[in-house]
Amino acid sequence: MKRFLARLFGRAAPTLYEAKPRDAAAIATLHGQSFRRGWGEAEIDGLLTERAVLCHCAQTGHRFAGFILSRMAADEAEILSVAVAANRRGGGLGRALLDLHLRRLAGFGAQAVFLEVDEQNVAARRLYARAGFQEVGRREGYYRDAAGKAATALVLRRDLS
Ligand SMILES: CC(C)(COP(=O)(O)OP(=O)(O)OC[C@H]1O[C@@H](n2cnc3c(N)ncnc32)[C@H](O)[C@@H]1OP(=O)(O)O)[C@@H](O)C(=O)NCCC(=O)NCCS
Repeated sequence: MKRFLARLFGRAAPTLYEAKPRDAAAIATLHGQSFRRGWGEAEIDGLLTERAVLCHCAQTGHRFAGFILSRMAADEAEILSVAVAANRRGGGLGRALLDLHLRRLAGFGAQAVFLEVDEQNVAARRLYARAGFQEVGRREGYYRDAAGKAATALVLRRDLS
């Protein structure tokens, strides 16, 4: 029965929703699992209380499955982070989160959205390319990989108007 329910919820359609302060711990955990430099729960909590910060989360069954977080300044927004739980990647969840988030940002008056992505991050680059982001800059040596080797950050932009 337990296994059946787990399978059922594992396949359940994700629910997307605007983050609440109580999501800070789950966001911090997933962020820590997804990036070399994690964000602490307090840091996330602080971000979620900022008026200019917008964050959406995804849940499948009762499991936290992903988030996307950005900050607005005037009529521009910057996506600060996006991650999907490792066992849910490749199933369209990143795309669903990004689509919803961009629509909400447009609704709040954002005209353009920026982000930085590691040049070697194939999945993220495909996600953003599919959503219409285009390269507008490069920051050589901006990241360090696990071995300490320098990696380039691409600056991407998507107009919403
Ligand atoms: C980037 C990330 C959020 C994408 O989420 P996701 O739910 O796997 O994305 P989707 O299933 O919606 O797929 C988005 C695109 O990425 C592609 N993709 C997904 N996983 C991939 C992989 N491992 N290798 C290559 N492409 C991949 C998909 O094919 C799709 O491209 P397409 O529409 O051209 O077919 C997820 O991989 C992740 O959390 N990565 C770790 C954190 C991270 O790197 N965040 C981005 C920081 S800028």
